[in-house]
Amino acid sequence: MSERRAPGAGRLVAGAAPAGEGAIGDQQRHWVETFAANAEMYGPESSEPGRHAAGLFVAEGLSPVLELGAGQGRDTLELLRRGLEVHALDFAPDALAGIAALAGPGLAGRLRTTVHDVRLALPFAERSFDACYSHMLFTMALTTEELETLAGEVHRVLRPGGLCIYTVRHTGDAHYGAGRSLGDDRYENGGFAVHFFDRPLVERLAAGFELEDVTAFEEGGLPRRLWRVTMRRR
Ligand SMILES: C[S@@+](CC[C@H](N)C(=O)[O-])C[C@H]1O[C@@H](n2cnc3c(N)ncnc32)[C@H](O)[C@@H]1O
Repeated sequence: MSERRAPGAGRLVAGAAPAGEGAIGDQQRHWVETFAANAEMYGPESSEPGRHAAGLFVAEGLSPVLELGAGQGRDTLELLRRGLEVHALDFAPDALAGIAALAGPGLAGRLRTTVHDVRLALPFAERSFDACYSHMLFTMALTTEELETLAGEVHRVLRPGGLCIYTVRHTGDAHYGAGRSLGDDRYENGGFAVHFFDRPLVERLAAGFELEDVTAFEEGGLPRRLWRVTMRRR
């Protein structure tokens, strides 16, 4: 895993992309700055998909859990409170450090964190996790090709029978088609780049998995219109 300086962050970021490398370099800087300016960007409570995923993982005894795009950790803390071991990954280093601080001594023993850009191979051995959870990481600036590579990486690091639960904004979202087009159903609004999913993309990313469930839900004031996708590694 290489180490490079995070754009705008002034800290070393393991495996991060070179500074200023197109849309993602800009996005990393944007997320680092946004989190610095908003201590609780999505509020203090866990999300609905976070609670749902935690319930399923506990019911099936699936631990450790890999969380991709953990952000400031509203769902990381939920997973930890439910007794699961969690490895939280994000390309925003200060946000990850904040999760460890919030977890405190009571929960931090079951928390690991890694600063990493998911465009690069995941820095974990194959079959090292029982579950993967990701709220709104797959729906970031990633191209379809990058998403296919990421789904393949999730498949590689999950054990057979393991669950992957991820959420994405979809083409029924009010922001779909609005703002600056980045191509590949990606649009930038207010500095945030979003890849809006259609059903064929969900099915493409399920290669090597059983697609068990796709549930629509809404979150936030816009509201964001999302799908919660559940797939099980074959
Ligand atoms: C919409 S936020 C969601 C955060 C968190 N899951 C939540 O729901 O509160 C997306 C997160 O993905 C991270 N992210 C975006 N692109 C990434 C990339 N290429 N590699 C790693 N993390 C990324 C951002 O830093 C941010 O924390």
